[in-house]
Amino acid sequence: MATNESGTAGAVLKDAPAKDSAPIVELRGAGKAYGNIRALHGVDLKVFPQNVTCVLGDNGAGKSTLIKIISGLHQHTEGEFLVDGEGVHFSTPRQALDRGIATVYQDLATVPLMPVWRNFFLGSEMTRGPWPVRRLDIERMKKTADEELRNMGIVLDDLEQPIGTLSGGQRQCVAIARAVYFGARVLILDEPTAALGVKQSGVVLKYIAAARDRGLGVIFITHNPHHAYMVGDHFSVLRLGTMELSASREQVSLEELTNHMAGGAELAALKHELAQVSGVDVEELPEEKDLTAPVAATPEGKS
Ligand SMILES: Nc1ncnc2c1ncn2[C@@H]1O[C@H](COP(=O)(O)OP(=O)(O)OP(=O)(O)O)[C@@H](O)[C@H]1O
Ligand SMILES: [Mg+2]
Repeated sequence: MATNESGTAGAVLKDAPAKDSAPIVELRGAGKAYGNIRALHGVDLKVFPQNVTCVLGDNGAGKSTLIKIISGLHQHTEGEFLVDGEGVHFSTPRQALDRGIATVYQDLATVPLMPVWRNFFLGSEMTRGPWPVRRLDIERMKKTADEELRNMGIVLDDLEQPIGTLSGGQRQCVAIARAVYFGARVLILDEPTAALGVKQSGVVLKYIAAARDRGLGVIFITHNPHHAYMVGDHFSVLRLGTMELSASREQVSLEELTNHMAGGAELAALKHELAQVSGVDVEELPEEKDLTAPVAATPEGKS
């Protein structure tokens, strides 16, 4: 059993993104309060077809809240949420899915003991024959799952194996191929590489790029600026519920993105504190002046 693990994630960049197309999903000054807690405020975001928008931020920054709004789990309490230019208020994930917005959660909602092909069609099984003798069309499901996975460049030796026997990265890839097959236009991935090692992360990044090349708008949530920079066309950094940075690839370097994520001033304070602890060589840590981030947030989700 092997996925196609050849090729490095560094090689997945494509040419310039399609800039003249209209955004599929757009947030304008959107926010969300949970009772008295304001988890998100004044967020602008645009998701274009054939584009990867990375949403970065520290724990509690509001990343999950942001995608819960877009995926229909929660409703925004301020601002606007538009799909194809039309204001929407989804009350269930099904409504988001009907508009082509698919979300791959970290737990993936698969049935570990069921074969790969069965999980691929879970909840949308193919059937044949008229009622009441309608039955599952097993052969067609196996064939289609095999074709679709191959189309995405995912090669598994045996689709009969329980999906639980695949690696975490391979399961993410199956979930991405499934969303593409079922007609997703926007694919939301919540920290798909968080629990993965370097090689498996590379494989997932490769299929994020493959989904983008199939024309999807991808929202890639991550803590990791290096992963984001390998596939991202646009970068949005959340900090304490507001958008601290919104920049296209041309506007921000990996170093600047990393500094934004790290929070320059906070790292400098940490360095000062660590200097009091014996055994920590703070000389190895960067200087405060190197940690200031020069790029400001632009109000437009995309330049
Ligand atoms: N259902 C909820 N009720 C009350 N407060 C919430 C709820 N969900 C999130 N919050 C708060 O909103 C803020 C943003 O949380 P969110 O889960 O969106 O952050 P995150 O960026 O996804 O963090 P992590 O990286 O830890 O997943 C946090 O302060 C959190 O405590
Ligand atoms: Mg989260």
